[in-house]
Formats: sequence, C-alpha cells, structure tokens
Amino acid sequence: MKRALLASAFTLMSALSVSAGETVDIVPPAEGSVTTEAALEAWSRIYEVASHPRCSNCHVGEDNVPMWSGPSYGKTRPHGMNINGGESRIGAEAVLCSTCHTTKSEDWENANTTPHAAPRVAMDWQLAPVEAEWFGKSSVEVCNQLRDPDRNGDRTFMDIAEHLDHDLILHWAWKPGGGREAAPYSLQEHVNDILTWGVGGMPCEND
Ligand code: HEC
Ligand code: HEC
Repeated sequence: MKRALLASAFTLMSALSVSAGETVDIVPPAEGSVTTEAALEAWSRIYEVASHPRCSNCHVGEDNVPMWSGPSYGKTRPHGMNINGGESRIGAEAVLCSTCHTTKSEDWENANTTPHAAPRVAMDWQLAPVEAEWFGKSSVEVCNQLRDPDRNGDRTFMDIAEHLDHDLILHWAWKPGGGREAAPYSLQEHVNDILTWGVGGMPCEND
C-alpha cells in the first residue's frame, strides 16, 4: 500500500518533469508481477550500463582518480593532467573539476561536439561517492552496493529511478557527443530496468 502510494506520487512527479522538458516516465510494473528470473535479466542490463565507461569513469574508488576509458580514449588510463577529485570529490583540494568541466553555456545542444574536449553539463561535474565504486567491479559487487541503503545514498529503487531522471550527467551519458560512445540501451529503458529489478525484489546473482 505504502509503495502503491509512493508509486503514484512518483508518477505524478515524472508527469511534471515531462512538462519541464524531460522525457522519462517512472511507471513501475505491478506489485508481484516480476519473477526473480525477469528481475535478474533486468539486472544484467543494468550492469551493462553501470560498467560502461560513460558511467564507470566517474564511479571510482578511494584513490579519487577519474578514469579515461572506452573506444574514444584508445587505452584505459587514469585521467590526464594528474587530476584528483580528493575527498571532496570535486577537486577542491587541488584543481576544481569545474575549471574545465564548466557549467556555463549559451548553447547546450552543441556543448559537447568537439572530440577530446572536457564534457560539460549544466551541473557540477564531480566524482560519484566513494561507496558507489563501480570501475572494474563485478556484477555481484555493483548489485550488492546498489541495493544497500548504507552505500547507495539511502535510496529505495524508486528513489534511484527518480535520481536517474533528474541527474543531467546521466542525460549526457546517453548523448555524450564528441565521438564518445553512448551508454547502452536508453535512459528510459534503464529506468524501466531499475523499476523491474526493484519490484522483483532487487535480487543479485549470488543470492
Ligand atoms: C561526472 C561523473 C558521473 C558520471 C559520468 C556518472 N555518475 Fe552516477 N553519480 C555521480 C555523482 C556525483 C553521484 C552522487 C549524486 C547524489 O547522490 O546526488 C552519482 C550517483 C549515482 C547513483 C545513485 C546511487 C548511488 O549508489 O550512489 C546512481 C544510481 C548513478 N550515479 C548512476 C549512474 C549511471 C547509470 C551512470 C551512467 C549512465 C552514471 N551514474 C554516470 C557522478 C557520475
Ligand atoms: C585541466 C582540465 C580538466 C580538469 C581540471 C578536469 N578534467 Fe576531466 N576531462 C578533461 C578533458 C579534456 C577530458 C576529455 C579527454 C578526452 O576525451 O580525451 C576529461 C574527461 C573526463 C572524464 C571522462 C568522461 C568520459 O566518460 O568520456 C571524467 C570522468 C572526468 N574528466 C572527470 C573529472 C573529474 C571528476 C574532475 C575533477 C576531480 C576533472 N575531470 C577535472 C579535462 C579536465
């Protein structure tokens, strides 16, 4: 019941965000309609996204070093120019990420067209929280992190879906420009998979 109420509240919110120019609908499947098998299939697609360079390059561990990986970088290596996010994860201890990953643009449509320029969105560029370390992590490791409120920012699966809709960096990951490979599937399909996995009980492969 509580979840049904929550779900309708979120459906309302996503309808509002559509009117603000967003395109993602947050409509979870009916309670009890998702088998564990279907939820695990959704998880395997979620992991394809989470482990993709457009996501994992920022979801790094406690060395605070963003990564350069994926076809547009040739070989996998730490971010050039000795960049380190520090404990602040925004580079406050040395050089701020926003020095190059600026948040100002007159023309967001064409902000990321130049290959090898620093990607830019209209929100502060920063490393993901250290608990959400995905780079080089296995499917089971990422799965257990993402369902653990102590390590996922205290989020339910509905909160995760909602976060995905409102995070501009995520919108960038599916439309990165500059010759970068987009994250697989689409933001809507990814949100649908999170909802399917969630309603199916957030199973992980080794449960
Ligand atoms: C520019 C760096 C960056 C990139 C690229 C990035 N993220 Fe994140 N991610 C963050 C930050 C920062 C947070 C913390 C935001 C917050 O808690 O409000 C975060 C938090 C999250 C969370 C919240 C759950 C948790 O465990 O903390 C999810 C889910 C997530 N990101 C998914 C993704 C996915 C999927 C992609 C790729 C499509 C992606 N991120 C790409 C920086 C990034
Ligand atoms: C001195 C400028 C500069 C600073 C400061 C900087 N970056 Fe970058 N960053 C770049 C450039 C340029 C690229 C793209 C390189 C390329 O495509 O060859 C890049 C790319 C990235 C990527 C890869 C994005 C992708 O998936 O293609 C991540 C992640 C990243 N930066 C994170 C950070 C974080 C986090 C900080 C702050 C701790 C930061 N950067 C600070 C210049 C900078």
